[in-house]
Amino acid sequence: MTTHQEFCGLTTTKAPFIESAQKEGQIFIHQPYELYSEDNQEAWSKLYALLCPKWERFANAKFLQGVRSLCLQPDRIPTLEEVNLFLEPLTGFKAKAVSGYVPTFLFFDSLKRREFPTTITIRDSRTLRYLPEPDIFHDIAGHVPMHTDRIFADVLVKFGSLAEVAAKRHGSIANEKERMAKTQSNIQALARFFWFTIEFGLMRENGSVCVYGSGLLSSADEIEHAILSPNVQRHPFQLEWAINQSFEIDRFQPLLFIVESFEHLYEEVGQLEEWLLSGKLDNVSPGEPGISEGDLQAFLSHGQEKIEYNH
Ligand SMILES: [Fe+2]
Repeated sequence: MTTHQEFCGLTTTKAPFIESAQKEGQIFIHQPYELYSEDNQEAWSKLYALLCPKWERFANAKFLQGVRSLCLQPDRIPTLEEVNLFLEPLTGFKAKAVSGYVPTFLFFDSLKRREFPTTITIRDSRTLRYLPEPDIFHDIAGHVPMHTDRIFADVLVKFGSLAEVAAKRHGSIANEKERMAKTQSNIQALARFFWFTIEFGLMRENGSVCVYGSGLLSSADEIEHAILSPNVQRHPFQLEWAINQSFEIDRFQPLLFIVESFEHLYEEVGQLEEWLLSGKLDNVSPGEPGISEGDLQAFLSHGQEKIEYNH
């Protein structure tokens, strides 16, 4: 007999298993592989078939190497266990299943520990080109191959460590309004950096421009648009611009930044840290992304005490 859970599978926005985990306040969960429906498996195969030739054309070499190192299968959703079996020996990174949205502080702080919060649901196979929120294809096929590269992994760890730096910096400010405004500005700057690099970054490689951002690597349409469209502005990465630049998540990005290499990206995270410490991120330009009250409170509370999470 088919249960309701099996019938719905683990489809983005329609997964009873996820709903009950969220109701119980569980962030870290396991991957109940038996719940993936045929439709879920089909969504993975179709996406893989769509993206594979585009990766060959537009992705950076380390990503392509990463896909091979992880032994991702074209025709079935991977288990996180098997992904980690290949990933962990390379860089120490691990994919950890989560029930959906992960508060910003926890997400960044997880990177510091070489843990990557990973969505286990997958988009509906009838709307492959529409991604309402991250899914396992975005996280495993878009992000995780990059985590097989040592320098890129170090970029994530260094970036992730800035969450705690940001949280602790303003702990001593007595004026609550000022403390909140500065912390909010810091989070916004970090989120923008992440967006314009890890999610939507371009890189120069062998004289041409290629993709390393996971938002692009998991989008069948935008990956090509990012490299070929005359409607995209592509500029050398400029930190002061990126941290002050608003963005909208529900459209193709009109502005992308190009780094020279992952060593270059690592240097930029170093610069970001210096600016964070010197107060240069305390009053960035307002706009998107908005910072939720919950996200802000998590940073503020981490500035005052160390909270342990149950994994
Ligand atoms: Fe992402």
